Amino acid sequence: MLNDVSKSAQPKPALEGGAKTRSEFLVFGKPKFGPEEKAEILSVLESGWVGTGPRAAAFEKQFAEYLWPTKPLHAIALNSCTAALHLAAVCLNLKPGDEVIVPALTFCATANAVIHAGGTPVFADVDPVRLCVSAATIEKALTPKTKAIVVVHFAGRSAPMDEIMALADQRGIRVIEDAAHAIETRWNDRHVGTYGWASCFSFYATKNVSTGEGGMLLTRDEELASLVRKLSLHGMSKDAHKRFTTPGFHHQSYDYVGFKYNMPDLAAALGIHSLKKVESNYALRKNIWEIYMNELRDLPLTLPPSAEFRENAHDRHALHLFQIRVKAALRDKLLSAFSAENIGVGVHYPALTTMPLYEKYLKPGQTFKEAEIFSAETISLPIGTAMTEADAHDVVRAAKKILSFYC
Ligand SMILES: Cc1ncc(COP(=O)(O)O)c(C=O)c1O
Repeated sequence: MLNDVSKSAQPKPALEGGAKTRSEFLVFGKPKFGPEEKAEILSVLESGWVGTGPRAAAFEKQFAEYLWPTKPLHAIALNSCTAALHLAAVCLNLKPGDEVIVPALTFCATANAVIHAGGTPVFADVDPVRLCVSAATIEKALTPKTKAIVVVHFAGRSAPMDEIMALADQRGIRVIEDAAHAIETRWNDRHVGTYGWASCFSFYATKNVSTGEGGMLLTRDEELASLVRKLSLHGMSKDAHKRFTTPGFHHQSYDYVGFKYNMPDLAAALGIHSLKKVESNYALRKNIWEIYMNELRDLPLTLPPSAEFRENAHDRHALHLFQIRVKAALRDKLLSAFSAENIGVGVHYPALTTMPLYEKYLKPGQTFKEAEIFSAETISLPIGTAMTEADAHDVVRAAKKILSFYC
């Protein structure tokens, strides 16, 4: 808690008529692109091939090698993580009534993918520390109709993959990893996204590796990889680049009724360089993370768990979202107060189980206490590679001012 002296020393919040902490708005999760990305984009434009081609293929190879250098993984570059989740769900071949377990605390795309693929999402609560599903929370949602589990590595913390894989293997159900937040995350010396049957990554603007919009599906299953590749491009038996760059004329032919989910080379040009910087960018975020952990610790808020998640030589948190917790009754006021200070903040996420849209998927007697409490209390502070230390200290100054006034 702030003591009385430091409390009274704080200036008035901008929301109450005081001066703004910053004159310029600090955009939440702004990505950083440099001269390499610009040169690559220019060379894509000059190559005459802006669609899916050699850059997308190079990005796929680089991504698979980053995740697991010693094992051959199949990576298929797509135009979003949502597309990857949808294709993974389609490939489950769900029949009406088939259930797929998804966390109550996630982005809507995780559950929507299941619905679009003809399945029924069944929500599971999260563990209060990791904020991911665990074997215990999954078990409460399991029924004889369960065909798969979608595990979200929330905010960059790994779900406990050994117990989840053991449970899934025992029951003969598939695991899909939603690793939208978790490109750098490791569990037991292995990157997450290498445990499940399929895993889905996001390269959206605010993500740790960014292509503006983009995604990747990763799998060890060759058959699944080949199906996903075809489905991502209309179900076409040969992709456009191959049709136009191999000798002779190739007529179009379709093996499946597919989708249009492929990643263009223009986006892959950004991904290739963003991925090369993944570790140096991680170090930049870690520095901001530590500034927040040190500077905010005496305020009336709860910091993200640190000792409790296993950060050591074997495990790693991708530090994607820095989420504080405040009293639920004050949370929305504080969001407005940060915005008034010109600090971009976020809520990740309102629990899906609180939304009328998903009410019909809730089963009698199920509760989602941890997901719902967290989602009412959380505020994501900005953390990103385009941020400077001075930006981080602006966030700290704003937090001190606001929390001492309202709490
Ligand atoms: C957990 C989670 N899954 C999936 C997605 C969807 O990612 P995309 O925007 O790349 O489709 C997001 C996006 O923020 C997410 O947070």
